[in-house]
Amino acid sequence: MKHVLVTGGAGYIGSVVCQTLLERGHSIVVLDSLEEGHRQALPPKGIFFQGDLGDESLLKNIFKSYPLEAVLHLAAYCQVGESVEDPEKYYGNNVSKGLVLLRNMRTFGIKKIVFSSTAAVYGEPLSTPIAETHPTQPLNPYGHSKLIFEQVLDWYQKAYGFKYVTFRYFNAAGAIDRLGEDHHPETHLTPLVLREGVPLTVFGLDYPTPDGSCIRDYIHVRDLALAHVLALERLDDLRERIFNLGNGQGFSVLEVIEAAAQVRGRKIPFRPGERRRGDPAVLVASSAQARKILGWEPQYPDLKEIIASAWRWHQKFPRGYES
Ligand SMILES: NC(=O)c1ccc[n+]([C@@H]2O[C@H](COP(=O)([O-])OP(=O)(O)OC[C@H]3O[C@@H](n4cnc5c(N)ncnc54)[C@H](O)[C@@H]3O)[C@@H](O)[C@H]2O)c1
Repeated sequence: MKHVLVTGGAGYIGSVVCQTLLERGHSIVVLDSLEEGHRQALPPKGIFFQGDLGDESLLKNIFKSYPLEAVLHLAAYCQVGESVEDPEKYYGNNVSKGLVLLRNMRTFGIKKIVFSSTAAVYGEPLSTPIAETHPTQPLNPYGHSKLIFEQVLDWYQKAYGFKYVTFRYFNAAGAIDRLGEDHHPETHLTPLVLREGVPLTVFGLDYPTPDGSCIRDYIHVRDLALAHVLALERLDDLRERIFNLGNGQGFSVLEVIEAAAQVRGRKIPFRPGERRRGDPAVLVASSAQARKILGWEPQYPDLKEIIASAWRWHQKFPRGYES
């Protein structure tokens, strides 16, 4: 059993990570500002602090009070478009406040961390599937802020002996039991295709893909969480530190809409829109390294099953957690 701090544990992925850690017998302390997360997504067991990552005295209090061995750091702002309009918000939260976390980890001798990064660090892919060795050239401040923090961790490893794992998630999707995706505003495709009365726009139908829409790699949120448990158990002995987490299989936007239509048993109307700047045609992960080194194997690779799990959650919470 490990004692871990989960930042962003009331968020979409963080809440499933918390639930999975508890099921595996670990003990958790959660820190979340609830700015984007939801109190209802918090685990029934575990200790929760509502507060900010940049609050030095709160961090000191947490690290002083609990015998923590590692941190799973998921707290961040994550909207690509917003990051382009307001980069300071993203560097401030995703980099500067992350440094406050690292400083306090050092002070209290906690040097193990699993960090949530993103496929957005790669930018426009030169080849697919994308391996961890692919060049990183983020196209927006969100991806750049994550890349900076990845690099900070690498220097902290060299200078201070930190042991870290960075996970570059592709598109998280799906739900488990009482935990699902509820962002405001929602920009992710899989929750949007399940909503009533929200006009769906497909951004670009003229990409060089078989049906003209973008292709993405959807990974079930439970599979992401399981990778965190594996990493936590292996933090001491890993040589590789950066892992892509994806299905390794791409699905186009129109295929996602069709799969959602099958799950819902009805046609899903959409309207064509302009391409969005910085949206690559295809983003598909090679997760060979996570499979080989962590022994990670996605349990829910089937797109329809991923969407069906999100649909079950949506039916329980049609207006998100507020319902
Ligand atoms: N959702 C995806 O498809 C995806 C893909 C790639 C990477 N990621 C990364 O995974 C992580 C989780 O993403 P998510 O979709 O669950 O997002 P989310 O917004 O649902 O969760 C993030 C949580 O962090 C909290 N938070 C943000 N800033 C904070 C701060 N300064 N102090 C305390 N709490 C703070 C928010 O309140 C929220 O609960 C993020 O780091 C994100 O960049 C997500």
